[in-house]
Amino acid sequence: MQKPEPQPQPEKSLPEGVRHIVAVGAGKGGVGKSTVAVNLAVALAGAGLQAGLLDADVYGPNLPQMLGVQNHVPKLGDDGKIEPAEAHGVRLMSMGFLLEPDSPVIWRGPLLHGAMNQFLRDVRWGGLDVLVVDLPPGTGDVQLSVAQSVPLAGAVIVTTPQSIALSDVMKAAAMFRKLEVPIFGVVENMGDFVCPHCRKSSRVFAHGAGRSFAQKYGVPLLGEIPLDPAVCSAGEDGKPLCLAHPESASAKALRGLARAVAARLDAATAKRQGG
Ligand SMILES: Nc1ncnc2c1ncn2[C@@H]1O[C@H](COP(=O)(O)OP(=O)(O)O)[C@@H](O)[C@H]1O
Ligand SMILES: [Mg+2]
Repeated sequence: MQKPEPQPQPEKSLPEGVRHIVAVGAGKGGVGKSTVAVNLAVALAGAGLQAGLLDADVYGPNLPQMLGVQNHVPKLGDDGKIEPAEAHGVRLMSMGFLLEPDSPVIWRGPLLHGAMNQFLRDVRWGGLDVLVVDLPPGTGDVQLSVAQSVPLAGAVIVTTPQSIALSDVMKAAAMFRKLEVPIFGVVENMGDFVCPHCRKSSRVFAHGAGRSFAQKYGVPLLGEIPLDPAVCSAGEDGKPLCLAHPESASAKALRGLARAVAARLDAATAKRQGG
């Protein structure tokens, strides 16, 4: 039997007006991907970049709450483009705007692929220097759709300090490598505990997963964010930590992450312009 001819891969293009796309992902749920994605976008906006956020966690979209825009109703323009919400200098699109609260998404791959493409391309993002994509847990259809639909400048991987989290992170890293997405680095979240009363920090969990992953994969450790009750309440209140407590150790770590990401994007721009 004759082998099928290899099909040319369609050229991946950026959505109109978007200069760079950065994915935030990891294997596990609950490690702080959304928290990192929201604060990364807000910190990049604070540094003067036009920033957008795409909540690609269709199974548990919680970015609307984290940015305090749960009541946004996305309107459809005459040109068929969807209006994103805007809060704290960041434009946001989320499946959360289209669902009844508490209703689950039970979709197969092709439907998810269609939804991701629409969210990437049919939203009026305006001119964006960077679109941060908050991925769902795991290495499934959504991750694949996003990586196959648009060129990703890079991925930020989030892990908790315990080595048990490491095997999931390795899987996520292997997925990005396979999809030829550069890994910008890893963020270790919820390491040292910051006491809300005295603001002193102490070590609660065994830690070092971020560092060992960084060493093993030869990627930078982009930041260590303490376990800080203020991070959690900021997420619930819709005012991201970087804005609610800009002087906290967590906010400083998140701004450091944003600086590292911005530097990688500048390098990508220079490379693009150089040829
Ligand atoms: N550094 C932190 N300190 C305290 N709570 C945190 C921290 N990072 C995340 N959280 C909380 O942990 C929960 C899970 O975080 P989230 O960002 O939603 O994780 P994921 O997107 O990976 O599922 C949220 O309630 C969030 O506020
Ligand atoms: Mg999340």
